[in-house]
Amino acid sequence: MYENRTLVRGDNLEEMRKNFPDECIDLIATDPPFNSKRDYFVPFRDEHGREPDTLVRAFTDTWRWGDAAEDAYEELMVEVGGKVGDTIQGLRQFLNETPMMAYLVMMGVRIVEMHRILKNTGSLYLHCDPTASHYLKIILDAVFDARNFMNEIVWAYHRWTGATKHFQRMHDIILFSTKDRNLSEFNILTEPYSEKSKHKGKRKTAVQSNGILEQTYTGDTRREKAMRDVWEISYLNSQAKERVSYPTQKPIELYKRIVAASSNAGDLILDPFCGCGTTLMAAEELNREWIGIDLTYLAIGAVEQQFERLFPQHRDTVNITGTPENVEQALELARTDPRSFEEWCVTHVLKFKSNAKRVADGGIDGTFRFPIGRVRGRRAYGKAVAQVKGGNYTIGYIRDFRTAMQNVEADLGIFVVTTPPTDGMRTEAARAGTYRHPFLEMEAPRLQIYEVHDYFRDILPRLPFGERAVL
Ligand SMILES: C[S@@+](CC[C@H](N)C(=O)[O-])C[C@H]1O[C@@H](n2cnc3c(N)ncnc32)[C@H](O)[C@@H]1O
Repeated sequence: MYENRTLVRGDNLEEMRKNFPDECIDLIATDPPFNSKRDYFVPFRDEHGREPDTLVRAFTDTWRWGDAAEDAYEELMVEVGGKVGDTIQGLRQFLNETPMMAYLVMMGVRIVEMHRILKNTGSLYLHCDPTASHYLKIILDAVFDARNFMNEIVWAYHRWTGATKHFQRMHDIILFSTKDRNLSEFNILTEPYSEKSKHKGKRKTAVQSNGILEQTYTGDTRREKAMRDVWEISYLNSQAKERVSYPTQKPIELYKRIVAASSNAGDLILDPFCGCGTTLMAAEELNREWIGIDLTYLAIGAVEQQFERLFPQHRDTVNITGTPENVEQALELARTDPRSFEEWCVTHVLKFKSNAKRVADGGIDGTFRFPIGRVRGRRAYGKAVAQVKGGNYTIGYIRDFRTAMQNVEADLGIFVVTTPPTDGMRTEAARAGTYRHPFLEMEAPRLQIYEVHDYFRDILPRLPFGERAVL
């Protein structure tokens, strides 16, 4: 069983089965990929709009009915059986071997595991969108028992859209089930009784009557009532402070409500589809313990950086597993899955912002900005860029990278490699000259060829401090 503040890179089904004993988790709050490939694929497409051939694709592939879906179906029918088996069989008769059915069986086997590892006092919050929420609720009822179903929470938001021939789709669904409704932990949260009465009246004590809670806030009394299951919380816009450019990132406010309602300080919270870690940040902020699992290196790197930014005092306490732990594993990753190797180098080794969108990247895989003082009263930043080469490379690659650095006006460039450069390559790199930081005592080659072996010897490229933590 993992410790507090652990990030696991891997498939959550395998992980839950192998490393999580029965009844060890207080709360699972998770946001799996919906069955809408569009959302899921956008950041991972390359500059030509092609789907990548990484682990991400491997999971999405399972949404087509194939061997993996057939195996999951078999497991649900034979090993789990009972109501769950009947429900899954019924759904298959209706949906046939469609991508939706493949998605549902893959979620089904995972929901069974989530139920097993939750404590009897625990709860599950499953974030879905309306394309699959009605099917997922049926599965949830079969696994958790309909009597333990507590809420269908509607998260309503506004965002920009074009004109459509239907009402604008502006909500997600969060299904909330307890393992046992009689034992479950629940803290009542409140909201203003109504917008109009928000600041009216002055009462000195907190009382509860007819489900309306009245509380005193530093002299200002607001009438509060127990919170409804419709939550209006703004969608993260591209300028939001907490934004880390992870495509499916959710607002921390949303997950703080869940954590506050269904757990207490010191409880252990799991997000098995953690993305950039919104649940985990909410847990940390409210003094809960947490474990996050995600399939991609990009997500794990994003959580690491987000955590360092928000909780710098605990930065050295995060444990990461499932990523290369020695040079052999790093080289193996480079050989078998170059895209993941690149994401790991950019987000974890260098702690740069990943150019995950792959839109006209011009040979730049990641960037990093660092402060260089003020220019005409405004904060100014220098720029470092990175390119990762997991396989063979020639002197021409170094030359091209130097050109790419010039094109994007980068001050520094890190060329990450798995094999040592030749003397000719070193000479080519040296042509880029030397960078001198305006106020730090720092001087470094503008173009540095960085061997990934060095990372495991604790040697890092020479870079100034900066906002590396911001993706
Ligand atoms: C919708 S996103 C989660 C977003 C998250 N709530 C946030 O705020 O960043 C779903 C995540 O599930 C991950 N994922 C998909 N299949 C997985 C699997 N089998 N095991 C672990 N993670 C998986 C994806 O990599 C993706 O990061």
